[in-house]
Amino acid sequence: MEELTIALTKGRLAEKSMKLLTRAGYPCREMEEDSRKLIFRNEELGLSFFLSKGPDVPTYVEYGAADIGITGSDIIMEENRRAYEVLDLGFGKCRMCVAGPESARSLLEHHEMIRVASKYPNIAREYFQNRRHQTVDIIKLNGSVELGPIVQLSDVIVDIVETGSTLRENGLTVLDTVCSLSARMIVNQVSMQMKTDRILELIGRVRDALNEG
Ligand code: PRP
Repeated sequence: MEELTIALTKGRLAEKSMKLLTRAGYPCREMEEDSRKLIFRNEELGLSFFLSKGPDVPTYVEYGAADIGITGSDIIMEENRRAYEVLDLGFGKCRMCVAGPESARSLLEHHEMIRVASKYPNIAREYFQNRRHQTVDIIKLNGSVELGPIVQLSDVIVDIVETGSTLRENGLTVLDTVCSLSARMIVNQVSMQMKTDRILELIGRVRDALNEG
């Protein structure tokens, strides 16, 4: 049997991914035990699973260290790695938004030269250049991006909004929606050629599991 290696995004997304893969017939008992291990096997089914930081999932898949990866569409867009995106998994739903204090709305409307803080500089650049035709200064942050406008590092942020509570609790509001987001399955392009039957079977079984709800 051809071995398959699947890269998962550490944390909540990995848990949801494993629930779905288990329903589709690709379980991994080793992973259910609490541990600091990063790689897990199901010998019987010829499967390896590993846990990585989200932005690294497309990297592992592009280089073929993983045949398959599961991560958010925000990360897939931002990283822009070579891989086939094969399935929308329907969980991890949220939005990429431009947010800031209400007072920043007019800066957007008047296409002012503003500062934008984001963990997603490529998505932010693409949005301001191609959709708004607005020249902006993009500042890359690594987290707690909502701080940007509060401490006057930036006028607005481009970030993920799920429940909206982080924005609310920090006196910020959504000023525009960039796009909807959800978890996606990606496949290495060479693996798709070399392990076609196994990968198509997995995609089919995961799709069936999704349809069965
Ligand atoms: C994400 C995102 C927002 C928050 C949105 O941050 O960057 O800050 O969640 O969720 P909400 O709309 O439900 O409040 P995350 O928790 O990943 O931490 P980080 O800010 O350190 O990246």
